Amino acid sequence: MTIDHPSFGRIDDNRVIIFDTTLRDGEQSPGFSMNLDEKLRMAKALEDLGVDVIEAGFPVASPGDFESVRRIAETLKETVVCGLARSGGKRDIEAAGEAIAPARRRRIHSFISTSPLHMKYKLRMEPETVLDLIASGNQAARRYADDVEWSAEDGSRTEPEFLCRCVETAIRNGATTINIPDTVGYATPDEMRAIFNMLRERVPGAEKVIFSAHNHNDLGLAVANTLSSLDGGARQIECTINGIGERAGNAALEEIVMAIRTRQDKFAYTNGIQTPKLLSVSRMLANITSFDVQPNKAIVGRNAFAHESGIHQDGILKNAQTYEIMTPESVGWTKTSLVLGKHSGRAAFRDKLASLGYQLEDAMVQQAFERFKILADQKKTVFDDDIRALVDDETRDHEH
Ligand code: KIV
Ligand code: ZN
Repeated sequence: MTIDHPSFGRIDDNRVIIFDTTLRDGEQSPGFSMNLDEKLRMAKALEDLGVDVIEAGFPVASPGDFESVRRIAETLKETVVCGLARSGGKRDIEAAGEAIAPARRRRIHSFISTSPLHMKYKLRMEPETVLDLIASGNQAARRYADDVEWSAEDGSRTEPEFLCRCVETAIRNGATTINIPDTVGYATPDEMRAIFNMLRERVPGAEKVIFSAHNHNDLGLAVANTLSSLDGGARQIECTINGIGERAGNAALEEIVMAIRTRQDKFAYTNGIQTPKLLSVSRMLANITSFDVQPNKAIVGRNAFAHESGIHQDGILKNAQTYEIMTPESVGWTKTSLVLGKHSGRAAFRDKLASLGYQLEDAMVQQAFERFKILADQKKTVFDDDIRALVDDETRDHEH
């Protein structure tokens, strides 16, 4: 099955569109605001990374947001630039339309809540009013862009019958992408798969649009839910660098992309991401926001390709595939790091001595190794200079 899309033309069924929302949903989380200059730098880096769509902001939210979306729209050459708007807000859609106008390729993303809880307490609207606003919002959005995405906020907690009616209304009124967010990170992988399967089976016109997954990480399931949404037929994934986003964050771009690439046996999808650039984009975001990535973060955390235990180091030195499922170079690291600590073994110690330029006899290596183990018990990290000092001491003792 192929789809003819206003921004991407004919898309193969196994092509996954990467929609990055670092600059919108990511930026919305406490402490992660970025200024115009920082947003522009990030947008250029994301385009260079190969993302298909950049959600650049929520133009009606503030003059600063409007300005950043507009400048990003003026600057990017290839990537689709998207502005967010509420379906019910006339001014929202005008602001989004004006902000993205300079872009070579542009999209408006309109959304409204569809779950009983959100309609009753947040919107205070009847379901029929929500349907009317979906229709009028999408019609208004189409005046500014052929590429219109519509989202059912809190979609995963929406009653199936009503969700089908909303999606049908959105498609009839011009949506070309339909996004079903798990806004509060409540759904499980099997549920997300079932929602997409149901919509594709039951909604008239479903075959003409791209379905999109947007998963939050409140239960740590955002990436798993995104992968199972692909299984249910979604072909756009919404994600952020380092998984930043509201509360526990959004699905992390680097994790999804590397899961697809590493497990092609299960996820036979393609995308345009140049994975060796992942680490530098992750670091750029960490620098801009002043939030370090946790050391054990998959792909981009500093321990993602680091090994301290002797058994693992020995395995890595014999064949890296024993303990690494992707190469560090494939995501931007220069090499695997064998960290010397109290768990390290002789093989890694010998390797370290060689890399520091020492050629010692076996007996000397053994004595130096014993000294190293005593030191490692006292220190969290053993640095190269510690090793040098230790070998120099050992050589001196040996000579006397
Ligand atoms: O999580 C969510 O529901 C959203 C929508 C605005 C798409 O971010
Ligand atoms: Zn979100």
